[in-house]
Amino acid sequence: MYKANDQRYEEMKYNRCGRSGIKLPAISLGLWQNFGSVNVYENSRAMIHTAFDLGITHFDLANNYGPEPGSAESNFGQIFAQDLKSYRDELIISSKAGYLMWDGPYGEWGSRKNLIASCNQSLKRLGLDYVDIFYHHRPDPETPLEESMSALDHIVRSGKALYAGISNYPAARAKEAFRILRELGTPCLIHQLRYNMLARDYEPDGLFDLLEQENIGGIVFSPLAQGILSGKYLNGIPAGSRAAFSSPLQERYLNDAGLGKLRKLNKVAEARGQSLAQMAIAWILRQPSVASALIGASRPEQITEIVKCLNNTKFSAEELQIIDQVTSC
Ligand SMILES: NC(=O)c1ccc[n+]([C@@H]2O[C@H](COP(=O)([O-])OP(=O)(O)OC[C@H]3O[C@@H](n4cnc5c(N)ncnc54)[C@H](OP(=O)(O)O)[C@@H]3O)[C@@H](O)[C@H]2O)c1
Repeated sequence: MYKANDQRYEEMKYNRCGRSGIKLPAISLGLWQNFGSVNVYENSRAMIHTAFDLGITHFDLANNYGPEPGSAESNFGQIFAQDLKSYRDELIISSKAGYLMWDGPYGEWGSRKNLIASCNQSLKRLGLDYVDIFYHHRPDPETPLEESMSALDHIVRSGKALYAGISNYPAARAKEAFRILRELGTPCLIHQLRYNMLARDYEPDGLFDLLEQENIGGIVFSPLAQGILSGKYLNGIPAGSRAAFSSPLQERYLNDAGLGKLRKLNKVAEARGQSLAQMAIAWILRQPSVASALIGASRPEQITEIVKCLNNTKFSAEELQIIDQVTSC
């Protein structure tokens, strides 16, 4: 039987999420990959134990995580029932709706029908009465924003989620969403966005400035560019790694120019006494609006390695300049 590490709150850092009452661990664990029905259940379970033992109190899900879609929620529900039930009030569990989940016109995007039905499905799979955060997973170009946001407001008011969030919204649309939610009386807790040293689109978009102005917390997904920024690809593609199964990742990042960048970044990390993965996460956390870096993992040891980045999260102006130069060309 699992018993959590008594020292679990000693090393982790907790950051306030915007101006809310919630603090998030600087590192959170996402269950997008490696927690589905095709994966080894005991490995998924061991990753959850390792994370929680290190003070990672936040686990992020979505309706469609698997594969099979839905199976990451079912597996997490099983692990929760087996091991974590007595720790429910120490956990922040999130889910989302917006990407394709079921057949027909109501199985994706941002209608009230989709969001509320999906939240109900997620709660069943998770075996929970409520999730802590429920997100609209992506902006819907057709549904009025008022409808999607009022569905989030309803989900919170009906007790199915404690807080509302949005994900993948560029700054202009996020600003509108924040206004509508504020007016509805359910202020947005958090924005979940993709950001890493190789994907910096939200800087010119103005999203970080907006989050600071509105004092809303950010949580960054794919902070390692799906593992590309872990350093393990510097000498080839290891069998079983994520890029080994993904030609888009290989084509985009692992060509000669991409590997050249990774080598230069790795040198900066070495000079800081960190692995490239640790530096990549520390670099995310330098953004004042970012409360948490939301990592994925395929093995418990990866989580242990990442958490050690908290020993060195400060960057000199020179280090930041080199990283900017390397990543901007
Ligand atoms: N809102 C959205 O639209 C959205 C989209 C995507 C993700 N997310 C969320 O963000 C979470 C994280 O996304 P992500 O998985 O792309 O994050 P990531 O942290 O960029 O990549 C995770 C992958 O990197 C590798 N890795 C991690 N730590 C490592 C280490 N110490 N050494 C070597 N390799 C390491 C592992 O891949 P290997 O398999 O190669 O070992 C791992 O599965 C998801 O689970 C999900 O919760 C949200």
